[in-house]
Amino acid sequence: MREIEKINHTGEVPVMEPQRQFYFMDLAKQYVTQISKKKGRPLTFHVTTFGCQMNARDSEKLCGILETVGFEETDSEEADFVIYNTCTVRENANNKVYGRLGYLSGFKKKNKDMMIALCGCMMQEPEVVEKLKQSYRFVDLVFGTHNIFKFAELLVRCFEEQKMVIDIWDDTKEIVEELPVERKYSFKSGVNIMFGCNNFCSYCIVPYVRGRERSRKPQDIIREIEKLVADGVVEVMLLGQNVNSYGKNLDTPVTFAQLLQEVEKIDGLERIRFMTSHPKDLSDELIEVMRDSKKISRHLHLPLQSGSTRILKAMNRKYTKESYLALVDRIRKEIPDMAITTDIIVGFPGETSADVDETIDVINRVKYDNAFTFIYSKRTGTPAAAMENQVPEEQVKKDFDRLLKVVQDTARERVARLEGQTLEALVEEVNEQDASLLTGRLSNNTIVHFKGDPGLIGKIVPVYLKECHGFYYLGEQPLKVMQKSGFYEKVGEENFCAHIDDAIKRAEQYCEAE
Ligand code: 5AD
Ligand code: SF4
Repeated sequence: MREIEKINHTGEVPVMEPQRQFYFMDLAKQYVTQISKKKGRPLTFHVTTFGCQMNARDSEKLCGILETVGFEETDSEEADFVIYNTCTVRENANNKVYGRLGYLSGFKKKNKDMMIALCGCMMQEPEVVEKLKQSYRFVDLVFGTHNIFKFAELLVRCFEEQKMVIDIWDDTKEIVEELPVERKYSFKSGVNIMFGCNNFCSYCIVPYVRGRERSRKPQDIIREIEKLVADGVVEVMLLGQNVNSYGKNLDTPVTFAQLLQEVEKIDGLERIRFMTSHPKDLSDELIEVMRDSKKISRHLHLPLQSGSTRILKAMNRKYTKESYLALVDRIRKEIPDMAITTDIIVGFPGETSADVDETIDVINRVKYDNAFTFIYSKRTGTPAAAMENQVPEEQVKKDFDRLLKVVQDTARERVARLEGQTLEALVEEVNEQDASLLTGRLSNNTIVHFKGDPGLIGKIVPVYLKECHGFYYLGEQPLKVMQKSGFYEKVGEENFCAHIDDAIKRAEQYCEAE
């Protein structure tokens, strides 16, 4: 048991958000200070994130609050406060969490003040919460996706109640703005533009755990991005389960394409990404806005899921193989250099090898830059889980392997098309495997590793794409190329990207700086 002196709450607890959470942050800070004094050292925290970009962004919000109340971040899970932000899109994500909880309980035996919290999509499933109550009593706090904004308040309850605190909401209409956020990268950031999903694809648990679609107001999004840019961010990733239906339910409806045009106007912002686009809602207006934009990245994630019209119908995807291919044609006609990536599920109930052949046919025709392939996972409560014709595991494995091979072969060929060009890359970090290399990301999302000064991290620089290695490139900075053999001779002016002027200007600046 934690030994804590209860702090008297003075004054009225604000009812309005976010003021209410700031009140609780202040209280939580007093508890953290008290325990930290007793221990004679700062209290540490660790946030582990499972799943998608939405969860990654939510985790930055959790980190923001933990830092505000006085915890210090650590790399180790042997910390005073550990939180798992969970995913439940596939069954194996759930199993991972249970496995790792056992390992955390070992740390808690050594440090009786340790607090363990669980949040995210998996907590929205009643069976999960029941299992935690029965078999994982050492967990201190459990909350879901709809009340994450209440984290500070729940933290205070955890300090004060000394028993498992569980707070799960079924749904919410509330969107709380202006809470603290601690970004993982100083120069790029995710920005939620909407929450939830209304599509109910028949295999997918997301609409049940993330609730109905809610869009943030454009002015709130713009204000957030302006602040991020003022704080050094050059690239934003606009996040939503289906960004193409952004704004439909606002009091004054706005299309996603209109929102993008507003974001484009923000001075100092250099790159705009977004995720995820549902093919059924991708408008011609959006294609035009992307085509005419200087800032929107040349990358579209366009989940196919299946290339069989029959399976797409059973999946409730609301497009056909033909309409998907026609959409890709429209995109490629307007924006030929657009990289397209996708998600594919193998083994959906009733899927035959002939259906998988249809999917492979789409892969061969589209030639994705990358595809995330998943084995179908039965999620309790979804319509597909109740379907009788579940596919035998052996067949799924066979189909999966042959589909994966096509994905890898076509992607390798497609990614290699850029070899010999010089394109702009946002330098993200020092390479994890080889510290002499930097890792950058092209506008089309392809990764390039090249020798360079870590001082370039966070900057957009031209990089000569020397060799393609499957999904990534080994590159060189044009400056180095210039020094070796003359810039234009080696690279060729025609190989520059759309932002050629920028690229040359930047290369010249580096020359001058050296
Ligand atoms: N089984 C396997 N993959 C799934 N996805 C969503 N639900 C399931 C499931 N039940 C995949 C889809 C989606 C991606 C985020 O996860 O391909 O696009
Ligand atoms: Fe799931 Fe479909 Fe919604 Fe994507 S669009 S989150 S796959 S229900």
